[in-house]
Amino acid sequence: MIAVPIRAKILVFDSGLGGLTVLRALIKQRPDADFVYAADDLGFPYGPRPEDDVVALVMNAMDTLISAEKPDCVVIACNTASTLVLPHLRAKWPIPFVGTVPAIKPAAEFSATRMISILATPGTVSRDYTRDLVEKFAGHCDVTLVGAKKLASLAEVFMHGEQLDEAEVAAEIAPCFVADGERRTDCVVLACTHYPLLKEKFVRLAPWPVHWIDPAPAIARRADQVLRDRRSEGQGAFSFRYTSGAQPDEKLRAALQKFLPARARAEEAIARP
Ligand code: DGL
Repeated sequence: MIAVPIRAKILVFDSGLGGLTVLRALIKQRPDADFVYAADDLGFPYGPRPEDDVVALVMNAMDTLISAEKPDCVVIACNTASTLVLPHLRAKWPIPFVGTVPAIKPAAEFSATRMISILATPGTVSRDYTRDLVEKFAGHCDVTLVGAKKLASLAEVFMHGEQLDEAEVAAEIAPCFVADGERRTDCVVLACTHYPLLKEKFVRLAPWPVHWIDPAPAIARRADQVLRDRRSEGQGAFSFRYTSGAQPDEKLRAALQKFLPARARAEEAIARP
């Protein structure tokens, strides 16, 4: 039997531009799919917000986005949100939701020194969900949870083409590096989707080399599995929306074009929402 091609539509959601690091992996995995990227610029940053606030913001944004876009799958490309809202979303909409949660299990398996750090927003490090992952998968490791106050905002500034104060970035990542006699941290989990945007800086500013664990390829594989029955050919479409309705400025368009090179039509699509 010949399978009929069906184009999949994937909605990728984050508080801001961090989810682009997940989108990049998704596009690589499923170039045939249509993508809508939505950034909750009205709610950003989620990191310092109380839990109830984050749940309400995501549920409200999803009400609008799901009825407008009718996606086949939603990727919540945000750890701060995923560690809270997935059960609420799954109870309300009968479509698959793929979340992004701290990659503690792979880090704990990979670490040779058994000293790992979880670099996340203050919200994510305070979640029961994160603490349960540590207990379940990293009991044999020394785990340092680092709630970075400014990094997600610095990553937004960087994506808008502005210069960053590198001393500020260095100070935010410094608590991840722990030494105990001969042993020292050898794995840092990038548990906020904004952080891989700054990975080159992290590598350069780190006091010693570590493995930076980015779960984006694993998330892309999971979404691919969920959408295994919807496959098509050629390159799908791409569009970008802010929850405020604002249009991306020139600098952001240029950054997207550079960041998502496989999407040759990205700029055109963004320019004509
Ligand atoms: N990108 C989000 C995450 O993965 C958080 C950024 C924010 O504070 O809104 O956690």
